[in-house]
Amino acid sequence: MQQAFTLRRFTPKDLQRVMYINRVCLPENYGDYFFMDLYNRFPETFIVAEVNGEIVGYIMCRVELGLSNFGFSGFVKKGHIVSIAVMPEHRRKGIGYALVAKAMEGMRLYGAKQAFLEVRVSNAPAISLYQKLGFKVVRTISGYYSDGEDAYVMSRVL
Ligand code: ACO
Ligand code: ZN
Repeated sequence: MQQAFTLRRFTPKDLQRVMYINRVCLPENYGDYFFMDLYNRFPETFIVAEVNGEIVGYIMCRVELGLSNFGFSGFVKKGHIVSIAVMPEHRRKGIGYALVAKAMEGMRLYGAKQAFLEVRVSNAPAISLYQKLGFKVVRTISGYYSDGEDAYVMSRVL
């Protein structure tokens, strides 16, 4: 039977579990200060997903002033998905989709007009997720990752 999941905002007591999920799921890892800084500045876009009271996924973001990805001239507020992960045994249940959707609500609260992220060009599951959410590849950054892999920048209007 499909276990239901719930979403809520990150709180500081979740830090070790979220850092664990980040280490299990992604090669891009960060110190505790980095997670807490994003939480302190953008709590509405740092969301965790729980199954049976245990955190199984997270998303964290920041809002930046940047050039529009869609040809509007000048600077716009953009929500940047910094990191998202769902534990392997809980994937393909809609948790990743729900985390991004919830984070985009938070971005709108902060006045962001667009959302974007970088993703490895080989990361087919994540690229599919973002496409399903309406993100499109807007450019490629050569050698973006520390192992030399390229990144797609994917973006959508909010
Ligand atoms: N293959 C093909 N399509 C997929 C896959 C896959 N393995 N996974 C997700 N999708 C697409 C599908 O369209 C899916 O809809 P469907 O299940 O109805 O077909 C849709 O995305 C939604 O999938 P979810 O179940 O919501 O996604 P999930 O909870 O599995 O999380 C995630 C996706 C976060 C990418 C997960 O695979 C993961 O944690 N991967 C490792 C970490 C990672 O790569 N994070 C993203 C890095 S980029 C960044 O952080 C900015
Ligand atoms: Zn980024």
